[in-house]
Amino acid sequence: MTKPPVRTLLALSAVALALSGCSAMKDGFGAVKEGMGSMRDRMMGDGPSATAKLEATKGNTASGTVTFQQHGQHVMVHARVSGLKPFGEHGFHVHDKGDCSSGDGMGTGGHFNPTGQPHGPQHAEHHAGDMPALKADVEGKAEVRFHLTGVTLGDGGPADLAGRGLIVHAGPDDYQTQPTGNAGARIACGVIEATRR
Ligand code: CU
Ligand code: ZN
Repeated sequence: MTKPPVRTLLALSAVALALSGCSAMKDGFGAVKEGMGSMRDRMMGDGPSATAKLEATKGNTASGTVTFQQHGQHVMVHARVSGLKPFGEHGFHVHDKGDCSSGDGMGTGGHFNPTGQPHGPQHAEHHAGDMPALKADVEGKAEVRFHLTGVTLGDGGPADLAGRGLIVHAGPDDYQTQPTGNAGARIACGVIEATRR
């Protein structure tokens, strides 16, 4: 019997990985794991994903939907938020705990910071949960897409965003004041929930 071409074997392996969705099996591929992962992404269109529904805290109006999609080492974030201050700039962070029950967002604790970094902008040392601010248009709506590094989705590891809180603040993040960025009250709160691991 003749051996099937290598390319066919790779394609079959990728299909098996995609169908199994089994991380133990994926880990077995060791060094080729990343390559196989991105092949799976190309074939299936998606890596792990998560979503958060932002709801206004007491006395506030901001709400929205934020989706997270992991592509290899990056997590792409797509935020759509309305009910903001027209032309306002609003600090936007992943906070430690996925608990919005207190009604003021305070139950989410501080910024998600699994690696013990200071608060800061994306281009310098920063908390894993620090993100670019939301900038509202004339109607108080903001839509933004950006990517985060150093975080994962749904793998249960220390940098996993799933199960964490998501907060929109009343004011801008100065990216300097420790450890909060001095962005003011928490006007919307959500919990990041894995939708695909
Ligand atoms: Cu915050
Ligand atoms: Zn921070």
